[in-house]
Amino acid sequence: MKAKTLYTCQQCGFGSPKWLGRCPDCGQWNTLVEELRPAGATGRTAPPNSQAVRLEEVAATAEARTCCGLAEFDRVLGGGVVPGSLILIGGDPGIGKSTLLLQAMDRLAASGSVLYVTAEESARQVKLRGERLRVSATDLYILAETSLETVLERVRELQPDFLVIDSIQTIFSSALESAPGSVSQVRECAGRLMQQAKGTGVSTFITGHVTKDGAIAGPRMLEHMVDTVLYFEGQAGHPYRILRAVKNRFGSTNEIGVFEMKDSGLAQVSNPSELFLAERPAGAAGSVVVPTLEGSRPILVELQALVSSSSFGQPRRTAIGIDHNRVALLVAVLEKKAGLSLLSQDIFFNVAGGVRLDEPAVDLGVVAALASSHLNRPLSERLILFGEVGLAGEIRAVSRPELRIGEAARLGFSHCYLPASCLKNLEAPPGMTLHGIRSVAETLDQVFA
Ligand code: TYD
Ligand code: MG
Repeated sequence: MKAKTLYTCQQCGFGSPKWLGRCPDCGQWNTLVEELRPAGATGRTAPPNSQAVRLEEVAATAEARTCCGLAEFDRVLGGGVVPGSLILIGGDPGIGKSTLLLQAMDRLAASGSVLYVTAEESARQVKLRGERLRVSATDLYILAETSLETVLERVRELQPDFLVIDSIQTIFSSALESAPGSVSQVRECAGRLMQQAKGTGVSTFITGHVTKDGAIAGPRMLEHMVDTVLYFEGQAGHPYRILRAVKNRFGSTNEIGVFEMKDSGLAQVSNPSELFLAERPAGAAGSVVVPTLEGSRPILVELQALVSSSSFGQPRRTAIGIDHNRVALLVAVLEKKAGLSLLSQDIFFNVAGGVRLDEPAVDLGVVAALASSHLNRPLSERLILFGEVGLAGEIRAVSRPELRIGEAARLGFSHCYLPASCLKNLEAPPGMTLHGIRSVAETLDQVFA
């Protein structure tokens, strides 16, 4: 009998009926992945003859989106769920993916029927969790199943409007011999689910665990297949969770939703600035507040630096929540352009609340926090600053200064240091004084005056 599957090298396309550690053709290691062998003409069928049409003649109907009512979730999706879309929610195990989806599905069930496939937990476990989350929807069906074929059959029978697969790494297709969670299984299952979503219009949510080692295929591998990729992030020990869109065919990326994990599930945080600043120490050197933009949303975040003389030869440099290369670069600028001697100092940098920042606009805040800790001089508590720092120590303009200043004013900040080039056409909100600055040295002179 002909083998149904073939091991194909992902680098060069070499095919083998058995798995091999090293591709004999291109010599790469560990690149052979089990794939379904297309059986002649019955394999991939050619698409029906499609015709080219003028773009202007394509009917442009607005996507009918369904909002689940969890505003933070809807915003990250780009304003609700699009019918027939495939949405991947990735994150570390235990971060709260199942919790988030169960809460969202409870609300979505008001607009259509939901089938929640749990391949990791039993239906009873989901029920217990649901009781804690006060899930009360009637049109919410639970299926504890790991076989993809059974799931697809139940979907055909039930015809739900929304489908959840929790998780893609525990579900498997019997067409392949590989274990659940392997590259081939994850890809095959996701491919079949996508075909079904596009064919029947069922909006499908897939969860995937981010994995550190290569034994289990991670959600990154699926990013190109799905319509929307959301990552659910948070730091161990912090109750805050951030839902971040990294790809979205139906909306903007960079939008975030902020949640707090409580005993009764995830609570939405509609005013994250207040939350992130709640535990700010009063008058502490090394603590600085910066207004960062997440998508279209300004959020105030506290930066903390600790600079202390090193007792060993090699000074330690640690950064949490921000790229450590960026911090190293700013340390060098401070050293060279502001005359602070930081070379022999241990430097620890932290973004409070478990937030991750990757915007150059926070550069000036990093510089101020480092200088404040090094000089042991706290900054005024009602002061805020932002701007990109260049290698010559110059302060460069950043986007949407008015949003950042507005959020700062709302939370009672009274002085804002920002790039001088941002001041054009900018009006200060009541109670806020704006200070335009041009260089790092000038900033330090002014804020520590
Ligand atoms: P879970 O949704 O199971 O994570 P994932 O599906 O991403 O693996 O979340 C599990 C964690 O969430 C668990 O450590 C306990 C916590 N949790 C709460 O704190 N409160 C709750 O109400 C629930 C349901 C979970
Ligand atoms: Mg889970």
